[in-house]
Amino acid sequence: MPEDISHPVFARIYPRIERFALTHGAAAHREELLDGAGGRILEIGVGTGANIPFYPPAVESLVAVEPEPRLRARAQRASEEAPFPVEVVPGRAEQLPFPDDAFDTVIVSLVLCSVRDVDRAVTEIRRVLRPDGHLRFYEHIRSDRPRFARMQRSLDLIWPRLGGNCHLSRDPESALVRNGLAVETVRHFDFAINGRLNPSSPCAIGRASAE
Ligand SMILES: C[S@@+](CC[C@H](N)C(=O)[O-])C[C@H]1O[C@@H](n2cnc3c(N)ncnc32)[C@H](O)[C@@H]1O
Repeated sequence: MPEDISHPVFARIYPRIERFALTHGAAAHREELLDGAGGRILEIGVGTGANIPFYPPAVESLVAVEPEPRLRARAQRASEEAPFPVEVVPGRAEQLPFPDDAFDTVIVSLVLCSVRDVDRAVTEIRRVLRPDGHLRFYEHIRSDRPRFARMQRSLDLIWPRLGGNCHLSRDPESALVRNGLAVETVRHFDFAINGRLNPSSPCAIGRASAE
């Protein structure tokens, strides 16, 4: 049985942040992330299951990995509404409990910021993806504006302790490329809520495939 990652305070607060974000723009981001997704899908770090209502009904099956037990229980409840089979399981991105080439599509949304080891997580994503499969990602990222990026780096001294190991200054696209995935499409944007930027506003939504 994989070891859980316990973040009780984050697990209590995050669902409220997520609901607020959903009604202020994140619903459209999740739709964009999952538009046309199909086949056998793995979602890593599914959280409360916020993406589940946004999957196309034609999905063949969804396996949803979540290491935080309280969030996993919420995802389990969310999965009961889905019009396709969903299995919610414990596990970590760095050591996925699945054989090679097991999935057509892997989904990460707002997760590569939080994993302990991004390179191992991407290596695992590549391993479990079919050779012609795709990773779809929605992540907040390090800003390409130097002053903003400096502010993110400074905040990263405390932010991970408050936000379930979430880091502001990571560059997930570099990690994908470094570990053998090719970014095919990506859209960079600022997710400004009510016109206001916050430290996690710089975002990317895209697709990557094994080279
Ligand atoms: C900011 S939340 C995002 C949740 C969800 N993906 C979403 O889009 O709302 C980060 C998630 O990553 C999970 N997580 C943290 N470390 C992880 C790891 N090593 N492997 C897999 N998931 C992890 C957390 O438990 C949490 O559910």
